[in-house]
Amino acid sequence: MPPPGTRWIGTSWKMTKSLAEARRYATALTDAARPGRWTGLQPFLIPPATALTTVRDALPLSAGVLLGAQNAHWADSGAWTGEVSVPQVADAGARLVEIGHSERREHFGDTDDVVHRKVRAVLRHGLVPLLCVGEPASVRAAGGSVEHVLGQARSALAGLDDASSVLVAYEPVWAIGEHGTPARPDDVAGVVAALAAELGSRIQGVLYGGSVDRANMHELLAVDHVSGLFVGRAAWDVDAFVAILDGAAEA
Ligand code: PGA
Repeated sequence: MPPPGTRWIGTSWKMTKSLAEARRYATALTDAARPGRWTGLQPFLIPPATALTTVRDALPLSAGVLLGAQNAHWADSGAWTGEVSVPQVADAGARLVEIGHSERREHFGDTDDVVHRKVRAVLRHGLVPLLCVGEPASVRAAGGSVEHVLGQARSALAGLDDASSVLVAYEPVWAIGEHGTPARPDDVAGVVAALAAELGSRIQGVLYGGSVDRANMHELLAVDHVSGLFVGRAAWDVDAFVAILDGAAEA
């Protein structure tokens, strides 16, 4: 685990990029990752499962970029057609596994119970869970953001003896994606403070995600208790990701 105070800055490519595009991105990121350029940061990159080994092979460990998977099953192996397991993504180069993204919760049946089982599986194999939590617009409108998000986090981490490697990403559903409304620091501060107050001593940190870009990254990173950013679309171009990493390193 990186030292306390490290800022985690990463992106998930979601369901984008061919192998050729993945290789070009990883090669360019490797070229950009000069020693000392991103001091104080832990960059991470979460390609689709198909591109994990391609990215791993193009991105030497010396680049200092942690690789992740977008999802993994709770079982180690077996008759689970279409799924990949934590040992499989670890074998392919992942050191971190994203669990419970709102797109998985909304479209693929990742309930709180499923999320809990997946987090346990990631920890069982010694990888870092990147647990995504966030409230939909209707819950926010009713004033229930903090309660909703704390409920998701409590359920995911229930009964764990050691959650010290867990990263929680606060990603309000209403702020994610091309139809999302970018969050203002004031929207983020209360929920992140509540997460930090309840879980801060148990977990590794709280990241913010949802329509993060070069324009709003500084004000979001400056929110108390935000220890990193989880970026989607704005980092799918490698030069844009490098610019975000440079901006975070200067901050
Ligand atoms: P976005 O995605 O930055 O494209 O809104 C963020 C996410 O889903 O983590």
